[in-house]
Amino acid sequence: MKATAVAPANIALIKYWGKRDIPRNLPAVGSISITLRDLLTRTSVEFSPEFKADQLRLDGEAAPESQRARVSRFLDRIRAWANFSHPARVVSRNNFPTGAGLASSASGFAALTLAATAAAGLELPPEKLSELARLGSGSAPRSLYGGFVEMKLGAHPDGRDAVAIPLFPPEHLDISMLIAITTRQQKKIGSTEGMERTARTSPYYRAWIETGPADLAEMRRALAQRDFAKIGELAEYSCLKMHGLAFSARPGLIYWNPATIAVMQAVRELHYSGIPAYFTIDAGPQVKVLTLPKHTPEIEALISALPGVERVISTGLGEGARLIDDQSTTPEEP
Ligand code: PMV
Repeated sequence: MKATAVAPANIALIKYWGKRDIPRNLPAVGSISITLRDLLTRTSVEFSPEFKADQLRLDGEAAPESQRARVSRFLDRIRAWANFSHPARVVSRNNFPTGAGLASSASGFAALTLAATAAAGLELPPEKLSELARLGSGSAPRSLYGGFVEMKLGAHPDGRDAVAIPLFPPEHLDISMLIAITTRQQKKIGSTEGMERTARTSPYYRAWIETGPADLAEMRRALAQRDFAKIGELAEYSCLKMHGLAFSARPGLIYWNPATIAVMQAVRELHYSGIPAYFTIDAGPQVKVLTLPKHTPEIEALISALPGVERVISTGLGEGARLIDDQSTTPEEP
């Protein structure tokens, strides 16, 4: 009753922000993401009647109680489906900073979904894996697949069609991503709380929901045409639209720091000088720069030198979550 999985982080090009059903964790808008090759979570799950209670180790330490409880609630559903009640030992490791806007919840819950269902002996169809991952974190189903992935908004009230689907494999378009880490501190307001506050207080929320489908359609088209300039322009647009929405909550949500803005401005300068570079930012201060592989070294050198940038991680597109041999080692730092 033990299994291990590896799952990659993903970064949304068309952002998800807002929930239409909080208990079922259903998104209020669809989203489109890319799956990253080198930012990985590795998670082992073992169920045993010998364990006294669920245990969670995260990056080598006992996890805080709130996180352990979140994982226990998630495992309860799997235990109910598999018809047993054994406690679990969960050991999870990220090869990148946790909880600072680098999609650790997405890779974390995608890895947990695969490892826990396999350890419980459940063989589930893709839509059920998506549903489980979504209950852990709204962006987690996207990490189940590689390359370019859409998280469907879905129309059914119970969420059965709010699932991730692969759009194109990683080889479809050779994109490179540079991640400028501007702080390693955990964010103060998580995405769930931020989304609820935005839905409750922002006068722009309705417009955000109404314009979501058109953004998705435009991105699907740009991806099908491998139109990198369009993809980048749309990704920046969706990012700034999401942050504009977050600013308009009350009190406003500001996820950026001075280095975040310095990187955004440097990327804009590159763009104006004819280099294909675009930024996107999630609910945190790190800036992800989309570019083509041949420009990566130049851009990496430039943004690494900006004040406040602690380090830059360079990656490309990769495969989705997969089960691995329990004995294999932790993925190396990128
Ligand atoms: O999966 P969550 O609940 O952490 O939400 C992720 C929200 C953003 O990262 C800001 C946008 C996205 O689509 O990934």
